[in-house]
Amino acid sequence: MNASASPIERSFELAATRCDDLTPLVYQRLFAEHPEAQAMFRKDGGDLVRGSMLALTIEAILDFAGERRGHFRMIQCELSSHDAYGTPQELFIEFFRVIRDVLRELLGNEWSPDTDEAWKKLLLEIAGLVGSPA
Ligand code: HEM
Repeated sequence: MNASASPIERSFELAATRCDDLTPLVYQRLFAEHPEAQAMFRKDGGDLVRGSMLALTIEAILDFAGERRGHFRMIQCELSSHDAYGTPQELFIEFFRVIRDVLRELLGNEWSPDTDEAWKKLLLEIAGLVGSPA
């Protein structure tokens, strides 16, 4: 494990040791909490679209929490394309919180106060990014 990784990155690394694929966990939780989100996805798009949406979101999170080389800019771009999918801004942001909650549940007692703090800060920053003009 990379000792210099941010708590955010470490939380994904630890989750990967417990679970091969976060996709089902994330979407089960999202659709349980926001049933209206399920209808926004095309029926034929299936797991591929959902899997790649999650993978790209995680890439953006890691970039935003780390070096900010550019992947994180995807967040603002996707906010406007999601307008077209009928995804309101509040729901769009919820996706990040759902990912955090899935990791927290998977990590159990390895979810440290540092990790918790780092995620709280990240979620606030993302809300600020999304709320601010591009
Ligand atoms: C709960 C919140 C969200 C909902 C309901 C949602 C819904 C959708 C839907 C309906 C699609 C189109 C799938 C299709 O072609 O059938 C999509 C695609 C996609 N979503 Fe999301 N989304 C959410 C949050 C996010 C977030 C936070 C990100 C990343 C910051 C993201 C990134 C993407 C990407 C990269 C695609 C692929 C197509 C594209 O470039 O637009 N989504 N999403």
